[in-house]
Amino acid sequence: MTDSLADLESKNKQLVMIGGKGGVGKTTCATAIAVYFARLGRKTLVLSSDPTPSLSDIFELEIGDRQTPIMAVEGLYGIEISSDVVLNMWRERFGPEIYEVISSFANVDYDFVDYIGTAPGIEEEYMLSYIMGLVESKEFDLVVWDTAPAGHTLRLLHLPQIFLKHLEAATKFYMNIYSYFEKLRETVKLQKGKRTLLEIISSWETLALKIVDFIRDQEKSEFIVVTIPEALGVKQTERIISDFDQYELIVNHMIINNVVKEADCPFHRARKAMQTEYIKILEDRYGDRMRLIQVPLAPLEIKGVERIEQISGVLFSK
Ligand SMILES: Nc1ncnc2c1ncn2[C@@H]1O[C@H](COP(=O)(O)OP(=O)(O)O)[C@@H](O)[C@H]1O
Ligand SMILES: [Mg+2]
Repeated sequence: MTDSLADLESKNKQLVMIGGKGGVGKTTCATAIAVYFARLGRKTLVLSSDPTPSLSDIFELEIGDRQTPIMAVEGLYGIEISSDVVLNMWRERFGPEIYEVISSFANVDYDFVDYIGTAPGIEEEYMLSYIMGLVESKEFDLVVWDTAPAGHTLRLLHLPQIFLKHLEAATKFYMNIYSYFEKLRETVKLQKGKRTLLEIISSWETLALKIVDFIRDQEKSEFIVVTIPEALGVKQTERIISDFDQYELIVNHMIINNVVKEADCPFHRARKAMQTEYIKILEDRYGDRMRLIQVPLAPLEIKGVERIEQISGVLFSK
């Protein structure tokens, strides 16, 4: 008997994140999960941050960067969010604050904020805080996040740590300059900031920590890994999970997609034999710590609500 995601039904998770290598079926699974919960009567948002989003293709509907009701399923909404949009939101949210900080001790143009916005990690960090904002707004019972392919996702999860280190270094750096200018205040007539530098920086720090806490919180968040029974799929999955272990993020479910179930020709028999080996590797390695859910390779691509619901049926079988 294969496992399923059915145990999630009784839990009131607020955020389900879907991760894995590109092309393994993340968007398909994210959508199938979102449709399933929407059908249960939970108002659900499926959000894609993949640079090549395909929610629009799956639902055959223009979705884009605004919450769009997916008419075919009551209570289901979709959004495809690009890095440009996120960066703009970041600018609106933090721009004035950053300007306030910097201009309190240096004579800079507002353009400087844009420059800071290009710092590595800001975009991902803000993506996380944006999604957390969505979750906390309680506008939806559940947010299903179709994350960008593996590399990205991992970077994203490392980020709060990197970001914090960066802030620490930056704080020290700013504090040195700041105290230096503070001493000179009388002579050079510096403007006085409204909030102190330390207050602002520590509020960023609080935000980053809040995000880490949230994605670690098993009551609220769930991370599901999607893979395929092939060498590359297995390798990347191992990398993802060992990274997660390092950051104390727990994975309870792994979806093994594109599994060949019936093999009635030499071609499919060969594929099936190959897949069986990789499935066994995954089962040996992870079977005792997470549920492994097999999803059969369908004869056709997964497009439209009807086919998505067939995948939901497999994922949540009881
Ligand atoms: N179980 C499956 N059977 C058949 N086709 C599938 C299955 N899962 C995904 N696909 C197809 O594979 C392609 C890639 O899936 P997608 O969910 O977009 O991957 P990702 O989001 O990981 O890049 C899509 O065309 C999708 O319809
Ligand atoms: Mg995708």
